[in-house]
Amino acid sequence: MNVAGAVQQAKRMQAERMSWWTEAKFGMFIHWGLYALPGEGEWHMYGSKIPVAEYESLAEQFNPVRFNAREWVRLARQAGMKYIVITAKHHDGFAMYGSQAEPFNIVDATPFQRDPMKELAQACQEEGIRLCFYYSHVIDWHHPHSVHQSANNIWDYKMEEKQFDLYWNELVKPQLRELLTEYGPIGLIWFDTAGGLSKEDSEDIVAHVRRLQPDCLINSRVSHYRGMGDYQSKGDNETPMYGEESQPWETPMTLNETWGYCPKDQVWKTADSLIRKLVNIVSKGGNLLLNVGPSPKGTIPEPAVERLREIGTWTERNAEAIYGTAASPFPYEFDWGAVTAKPGRLFLHVFNDKWPRGHLKLQGMRSRVLKAYLLADPLKRVLPLTHTYHGGTERHTLSVSLPDTAPDQSVSVIVLEVEDVNDLDTGFTVLPSGMLKVDVTSGEVTKADGLGDGTMAARRAAWDIAITEPGTYSLSLISFKRADGALADSYAEGIRLTFAGETIETVPQEDSIIAESPACQHPYKEVHSRLANVFIPVPGTYELTLTSTLIKDRNPRFTEIWQADKVKLRSVMLERADSQQR
Ligand code: GLC
Repeated sequence: MNVAGAVQQAKRMQAERMSWWTEAKFGMFIHWGLYALPGEGEWHMYGSKIPVAEYESLAEQFNPVRFNAREWVRLARQAGMKYIVITAKHHDGFAMYGSQAEPFNIVDATPFQRDPMKELAQACQEEGIRLCFYYSHVIDWHHPHSVHQSANNIWDYKMEEKQFDLYWNELVKPQLRELLTEYGPIGLIWFDTAGGLSKEDSEDIVAHVRRLQPDCLINSRVSHYRGMGDYQSKGDNETPMYGEESQPWETPMTLNETWGYCPKDQVWKTADSLIRKLVNIVSKGGNLLLNVGPSPKGTIPEPAVERLREIGTWTERNAEAIYGTAASPFPYEFDWGAVTAKPGRLFLHVFNDKWPRGHLKLQGMRSRVLKAYLLADPLKRVLPLTHTYHGGTERHTLSVSLPDTAPDQSVSVIVLEVEDVNDLDTGFTVLPSGMLKVDVTSGEVTKADGLGDGTMAARRAAWDIAITEPGTYSLSLISFKRADGALADSYAEGIRLTFAGETIETVPQEDSIIAESPACQHPYKEVHSRLANVFIPVPGTYELTLTSTLIKDRNPRFTEIWQADKVKLRSVMLERADSQQR
């Protein structure tokens, strides 16, 4: 076989390996370990510099007698989750299974003596859920020889005495061998925090997993070199922008604000908000890996259980519009919700508080539309449709008549049967409601110069935007901001915006904070900055450009350190500003 043939074959094999995962869309993350006892989250040992000997003694008290694998797996299944990723070993180095390679494990070091991973493997088999393991391959605060680029145990061990190979060959590889040979087929190994791992060692561990279980998937956090593994793990709680990812991807997300058990953290996302986040993620082609942090007794906190049950009622009724779907063919978010697709069908997920009066208008569908109905309607009664065409801007508008009230909880789905889901008007169009949000990664991104003192690399994103209704449009910038960040600092160089021939140079201000946003969650808040008003005299297509030092390079060498940016630049928003706005 020639090189091109081999590459083709490797791609085919990868797609086959990935198929269950791309269809699954929704998984359960479980952070469970000794850290549940102090109940301060899984970084507690590091944060409080707890000596190994003292941390080890936690094991003597760890006795999760209420652990019931079947209950956990059923809860995941009922929520509509198709896979479970559980911490087999987190950064504290404690193995949550019976490891021969290291006595610091749940079977040998605790009064519990059971192997929860064995019990979960059995329950997952019975319930038809894929079992997957999280394994912290670089950070290990218990082992004397683990080496990470920043988060090391230096209160028990001296950096200069560390011999990474000992850790790698005597702990990591043997433990992965155990996990991949003693628990049946494993869906994926979820590696984490690879900072400092060499390219060779990254490749070595990928090969190790492939040899042991060729079908087992590997997430990108196996290495901080970009592009390794089968799919891209986004940063913690990070939802990408439209056009950001060309690889399959997954967002790991907390239900409250911590991963490991933390009873004082009672900031739970609502079921309603979680359903919208799931929809938002799936509409961009991703998977949601939603976390629970069980207690030291082995129970999943009640607020998490309640929410997962509510989500389950929704995913069961709307399964068709989630599982096995493709990303929305439209490169932007709608103000009423989001879109998913299957061949011949588009699913319009309408957020209930945005349920339109009378009819929903969808712009940009060029394909012939055959019929529309509500997914929640068992009789699939036809919703009347009109499909119009605006010659001047070459835009199609579809109008679907709707009942007065939304038929489902949280998000109600309209099914559109169309000839070709990808047959769309090209480019961006202001939505019929008079607004449009474009994400920086959905534009054409090029290098730019001439901002501030010019020392930082700036980039420019450009879009062609069709406007069918003339009038005044207000332009705003959307950023996600961490509590300790300030727009004035991050945008110190200023930004430059051009639209319909006008140029605006300014430093964005924090004008409003959006309380609930499908794409933004802890530790960020969505912030809007008003930039300018621009008058558009006639319908037509206008160029919009944004230049900023916060627009990222599309092909970085290393994966980003998630949450390293205090402010993230996300989108430009246009809104019809004058009285004619409908
Ligand atoms: C981070 C943290 C870790 C957590 C993980 C979840 O990498 O180090 O504690 O397990 O994210 O995505």
